[in-house]
Amino acid sequence: MKKEEKKEFYKIVASIINNKEFQRRKTFKHHGDESVFDHSLKVALLSYSLAKKFHLDAQSCAIGGLLHDFYTKPWMDNKVKGKKITELHGFVHAKEAYQNALKEFPYLMTPKIKDIIVKHMFPLTPLPPSYAESWIVTLSDKIVSMSVFKKPKDLPMYLGINKKKKRSDKNE
Ligand SMILES: [Fe+2]
Ligand SMILES: [Fe+2]
Repeated sequence: MKKEEKKEFYKIVASIINNKEFQRRKTFKHHGDESVFDHSLKVALLSYSLAKKFHLDAQSCAIGGLLHDFYTKPWMDNKVKGKKITELHGFVHAKEAYQNALKEFPYLMTPKIKDIIVKHMFPLTPLPPSYAESWIVTLSDKIVSMSVFKKPKDLPMYLGINKKKKRSDKNE
């Protein structure tokens, strides 16, 4: 990404990055050892540069990309037993992320950014994304999460199903 573009990106998302609640995502583990903060930043940067390339709304991609996983608790702490599949993290965290985004950043929310956040887990969502920018973010999320897709046994992590890695997997 060009230096100018990066500068512009950080200007758009400064209020999110500096937000105390958002900063807490540095302590939430996402896939493997990466934090939700780092993962979200990668998705936002990739979405932003793809949107620029296709002359789309890069600002909405930056904001939606950064907030797409702004869920409340580290998902590894969630109870899985006794839950229906549709109640698992993979299906519910996008809506939770939007509720938190609305609470912390009401001034940034638009119908498009809501769509980006709420539908980023497509095809697990009942409806597909409604905007090109939502497609960019859901695609970027999958590209950034590729390390999970590369190992089929880690795939349930993308859905938020795998609770803990086995001891034997730790040194991989
Ligand atoms: Fe997600
Ligand atoms: Fe994500």
